[in-house]
Amino acid sequence: MIVCKSAVELEKMRAAGRVVAKVLETVVARVAPGVTTLELEEVAERQIAAAGAEAAFKGYHGYPCVLCTSVNDEVVHGIPSERKLERGDIVSIDVGVKLDGFFADAATTVALEPVSPEVARLLRVTRQALDRAMGQARPDRYLGDISAAVQEYVEAAGFSVVREFVGHGIGAALHEEPPVPNYATPTKGRGPKLEVGMVLAIEPMVTNGSPAVKIRPDRWTAVTADGSYAAHFEHCVAVTPNGPWILTEP
Ligand code: MF3
Ligand code: CO
Repeated sequence: MIVCKSAVELEKMRAAGRVVAKVLETVVARVAPGVTTLELEEVAERQIAAAGAEAAFKGYHGYPCVLCTSVNDEVVHGIPSERKLERGDIVSIDVGVKLDGFFADAATTVALEPVSPEVARLLRVTRQALDRAMGQARPDRYLGDISAAVQEYVEAAGFSVVREFVGHGIGAALHEEPPVPNYATPTKGRGPKLEVGMVLAIEPMVTNGSPAVKIRPDRWTAVTADGSYAAHFEHCVAVTPNGPWILTEP
C-alpha cells in the first residue's frame, strides 16, 4: 500500500528535508584532498544533533554510521573510514534523518578536481537523470514514467543504470512502498498511478561501465563488478496538484 501524506505531514517532511539539505551542504563544503570520510561522518553527526533530528541510517539493519560515503567504484552504502580523499576521486554522500516522526533522505556526488571529462560527464548525466525523473512526479503520470525517464536519459548518454538498488516511498518509515527502480519495470505509462500526497525518494545509481555490482566482505559496500566509477544522486519529491515538490533541496 502506498501511503499518501496530508498537507500537514508534507510540511513535516519538508522540515526533515531541510535538515538533510543543510547536512549535505555542510559535508560537501568539507570535501577536500586529505580529508577522511570519517571526518565527514563527524561533521554530519554534529549537524544532525544540532538540528534536533535523529540519524536515519545508523542502526538501520545494523548499519554503523549516519552517512554513506561511496568513493569511485563504490556505488552505495560505503562506510565512513580513515580513507583519505584524493584529487581525482569522486565521493557520493548519502544521508537520512528523522524529524518530528518523518524521514527525509538525499544524496549527491562530488568530484575532487581534476577528474577526467568522462567522469565529470557521469556526474552531470546522473544529476540530470534525477531532474528528469523528478519532473515526472505529477498526478497525471505513472511510476513507470519516472523509471523510464532515468533509464532513457542515462543509456542515451552511453552509461549504465544499476539494477540491484532502487529508490523508495518515504514518510513515517525510511523505506515505504513503492520501490522506485531506475530502469523501466514497470515501463512508461504503467505501474501505480501517481497521486497527490505520494512522496518518492528517487535515487539513480549510474556507472560508466557495466551495471553489475558486487558486495564487499564488509557486507555493506556495493562496488561495480568491473571497477568502473559510479555516481549517485537522490532527492525526496512529493506529488502535489502543482507538480513536483522537492523536499530535500536547500
Ligand atoms: N539512500 C539509501 C536508501 O534509501 C541509503 C540507505 S543506507 C542504510 O536505502 F544504511 F540505511 F541502509
Ligand atoms: Co534512499
